[in-house]
Amino acid sequence: MSIVEIRNLSYSYPGLNKPALINIDLTIEKGDFIILTGPSGCGKTTLCRCLNGLIPHFYNGDLTGDVIVTGLSVKDNPTSKIAQHVGFVFQNPENQLFALSVEKDIAFGLENLAVPRTEIRKQVDHALDLLGITNLRDNAPYELSGGQKQRVAIACILAMHPELMILDEPTSFLDPVAAKNLFEIIYALNKELGLTIILVEHRLDLLCTYANRVIIMDEGKVKADGIPRDILSSKEVLSLGIGIPKITKLYLELKASGIHLGDPPISVNEIAQEIRTLMLND
Ligand SMILES: Nc1ncnc2c1ncn2[C@@H]1O[C@H](COP(=O)(O)OP(=O)(O)O)[C@@H](O)[C@H]1O
Ligand SMILES: [Mg+2]
Repeated sequence: MSIVEIRNLSYSYPGLNKPALINIDLTIEKGDFIILTGPSGCGKTTLCRCLNGLIPHFYNGDLTGDVIVTGLSVKDNPTSKIAQHVGFVFQNPENQLFALSVEKDIAFGLENLAVPRTEIRKQVDHALDLLGITNLRDNAPYELSGGQKQRVAIACILAMHPELMILDEPTSFLDPVAAKNLFEIIYALNKELGLTIILVEHRLDLLCTYANRVIIMDEGKVKADGIPRDILSSKEVLSLGIGIPKITKLYLELKASGIHLGDPPISVNEIAQEIRTLMLND
């Protein structure tokens, strides 16, 4: 069942002649884990803004086409309604945390929906547990590391029980270890809760084993869309100059020199296994 339907979407920011999005058609299924990537300025954040209703409700400009998210037309529904179904995690968690403690930040959204106290406590405990941050419940946001803050931001979203979670470059301020930890948590939420994920990211090296689909944009258009194994080694993607994973590069280099390793790998383990098999067969 689809959770996002985008039909012939084009959008230009006010006063700009060049459209930020051009004729986008996209269907996203419930339970998908999607990496959305592409060169800087290609329209990823703009597309996310169309999915949570910031466009057209907070950004004017020229929007044509249809965006239906969790069955709601974003044009016809206020962002407050869309936010009950679509959680949004920003690049910088500082933008999302403002209460005096982690617990209060997570409870905030539920309090606004007038959820009863006992239920709030239950939901907060559950979100803390899912993110592995129960020990931080009384800490103030300023006492946390970047990775911890980003987990709290995700816990705030999860407590609202979204059907779709969009994360726009959530690891920009994290080192590679913290980024990998965060990806593993997001993956667990996708697998265990069936939460649909759209993750805008450049760190494809760390990510391709988690996602079932990668969408690559360039100059406001979708340029490639499919399973990571096929897409990342395709000619059109290589020509875009995005950060292709090193294992994909190694595979293609070997292929160009006449060494065929079967299907393109998406993990170090896979390519190691292929090389072992090749050596044993020699
Ligand atoms: N608030 C804005 N006002 C005007 N132009 C914008 C705004 N945000 C983004 N743009 C422009 O829209 C295009 C797409 O930007 P963006 O969606 O932020 O790309 P990405 O997230 O892929 O880096 C760029 O040309 C950018 O300059
Ligand atoms: Mg962006």
